[in-house]
Amino acid sequence: MAKGRGVQETSFIGFMAFIQVFGLRGGGGTEPKCHQEGPRQSDQLLLPPGQSPLPSMALQESKKPDVYQTNFEPTSYLEYFKLDQDPMAKEVLHFLLKHYNATFKPGGLKGKLLIDIGSGPTIYQLLSACETFEVIVASDYTDKNRQELEKWLKKEPGAFDWSPVVKYVCELEGNRDRWAEKEERLRKAVRQVLKCDILKERPLEPAVLPPANCLISSLCLEAACPTLGACRDALRHIKTLLQPRGHLVLSGTFGSTFYMVGDKWFPTLPLEEKFLLEALQEIGFTIEKLEKAPRAAETLLDNRSDYTRMFFLVARRGD
Ligand SMILES: C[S@@+](CC[C@H](N)C(=O)[O-])C[C@H]1O[C@@H](n2cnc3c(N)ncnc32)[C@H](O)[C@@H]1O
Repeated sequence: MAKGRGVQETSFIGFMAFIQVFGLRGGGGTEPKCHQEGPRQSDQLLLPPGQSPLPSMALQESKKPDVYQTNFEPTSYLEYFKLDQDPMAKEVLHFLLKHYNATFKPGGLKGKLLIDIGSGPTIYQLLSACETFEVIVASDYTDKNRQELEKWLKKEPGAFDWSPVVKYVCELEGNRDRWAEKEERLRKAVRQVLKCDILKERPLEPAVLPPANCLISSLCLEAACPTLGACRDALRHIKTLLQPRGHLVLSGTFGSTFYMVGDKWFPTLPLEEKFLLEALQEIGFTIEKLEKAPRAAETLLDNRSDYTRMFFLVARRGD
């Protein structure tokens, strides 16, 4: 689903001329998650000589379960964002929102186009950036997440109540009372919610956007990438969406092997700092900022995920 959002501004019409959306492929999917680099040696030894260890692409396509499309329930995931009720929400959001605020405050990053990669059903990651970027394009892999996001953008009944989070961000910005104004500002800034697959060379295909001044991606890499190799590739793929000298604002967890969404279990790639920094530097990013926080003692017993640290990183495309 790639819906336009009824753009009226004349200045935006020229910009939109660049955006060609030809409709989206149905289905598609991630490989079953296993955190190994390539096929196991033992598998290869069992094969007759000359036979590939991997089934044909057609067979793979027909067999692989699309776990995100099938099992990721946006309303269950949004339980993590009840700031007033959930200690893990408090820990993760306080850390991320503080750093988004510092990154996009006056004098910080600003520009015309910002693309959020793997937005899920959430908007917290855009609340600071919507003050300094004119146009925001959100994206996610699953249809249900994109629909849930559209529900909030269009103020439809049953949309998630983000107001405690929006109020918190406004408080960080110095005026808690302007939360309703900020919600409207964000709704205006988000012009598209596109299909995205970071495992593909062109993650937003078939949509074509001008190169972004800034990319955000939060808690997506470790969820989407089954192996470290796939993660390196995914970083290379999303880099193609960014203009030279543009900024990548990446956040997530270190050391996590899974997280729960309702009663559904999702594997995650246990990212580590050294790997991430090297992978980014290898493809031409300069790291401008890296913030980390250990998991707080009060959420250690929360068995919905086993992350050990959170990170927030700003990197600049060098070429
Ligand atoms: C843990 S959620 C993070 C959502 C949101 N960015 C946040 O900060 O809460 C992981 C997201 O990655 C998305 N995802 C999974 N596989 C993906 C892929 N191959 N390409 C892009 N996004 C993917 C999921 O649909 C899901 O919304």
